[in-house]
Amino acid sequence: MMTSGNKIMDGATALSIEAIEQFALMVARGLSDQPRRLDSRYLYDANGSFIFERICEQPEYYLTRTEAGILAGAAAVIARHTGHVTLIELGSGSSVKTRLLLDAYCEHYGSVKYAPVDISKTILEEAEADISAAHPDVEVQSLHGDFEAAFPLLGTLSPSMLLFLGSTIGNLGSHEAALFWDRVSLSLSPGDFCLLGIDINENAASLHSAYNDAAGFSEAFTRNIFIRMNRELGASLDPGLIDHVAHYDRKWRRVEIFAHFLEEQDIAIEPLGSAFRIGAGEHILTEVSRKFRLEQMVPYLGTFRLETERIFTDSARRFAVLLLRRK
Ligand code: TRP
Repeated sequence: MMTSGNKIMDGATALSIEAIEQFALMVARGLSDQPRRLDSRYLYDANGSFIFERICEQPEYYLTRTEAGILAGAAAVIARHTGHVTLIELGSGSSVKTRLLLDAYCEHYGSVKYAPVDISKTILEEAEADISAAHPDVEVQSLHGDFEAAFPLLGTLSPSMLLFLGSTIGNLGSHEAALFWDRVSLSLSPGDFCLLGIDINENAASLHSAYNDAAGFSEAFTRNIFIRMNRELGASLDPGLIDHVAHYDRKWRRVEIFAHFLEEQDIAIEPLGSAFRIGAGEHILTEVSRKFRLEQMVPYLGTFRLETERIFTDSARRFAVLLLRRK
């Protein structure tokens, strides 16, 4: 690791001292919780985002493929339905699926403005470069940050459509999600749109394999947050002694993803001068992925003044894309 000014150089990325401090505080807070947990947004550093893109390509992870299929079939209908709006995407990642929409808007209107928002600067910059090269009619204005950072933008870009794909909404707990929808509803102007992708699969076996791929990318993803702690916080962990555990809880309709400590290890947090001892067999929750039912989701969104105008699904009804409008 090299330091220059108040930046720490991590490969090509410069991390601010404040960003590292925030990570340190999140880890300390989460490890003090019972049960222990980590804020899932920290899974998505440059390496984590790269691994997540690999998860999306795995045969077991039906979500991305199914959603892309739905978008391929629906993009032209969506573009016609909304008119020539600006597209803002939360958690855009590689923006690969989004290109189906960008193409449809360019075809109908000759051009489109696109504002991707992502917490990984590296993947955001790569996506922006790729899109600018492949789609000269797309005007890209990317924003590096978490969802919070995007809300002020929404008000200024109307008429717009907010894209929230990949069932990322499922990664927010129910309380967090309600706060999120409140913010969305307040930030959009009446008449603006939101395109929401949700996982509606109820098959426990296919959910289990989606989050436990045979090639091991899910495991790599879970371990990566600890590798990040080693690099940014001096955690001095052996990631080889941390297993990935994911199971589907039918009652709560959610996949719970944990890091399972095979042996006792101390997690040092150097910026805070503190450490946490994790016992052999302990689990740390790294992400939840809630699954949804359309019969509940549509009225729920209505309570935030978001009316469902169209629903697109695949033939197996494992995934749904909802076209919502702020009333
Ligand atoms: N956002 C992804 C989802 O809910 C997160 C995810 C997929 C994930 N596979 C994982 C997180 C494996 C940790 C480990 O589908």
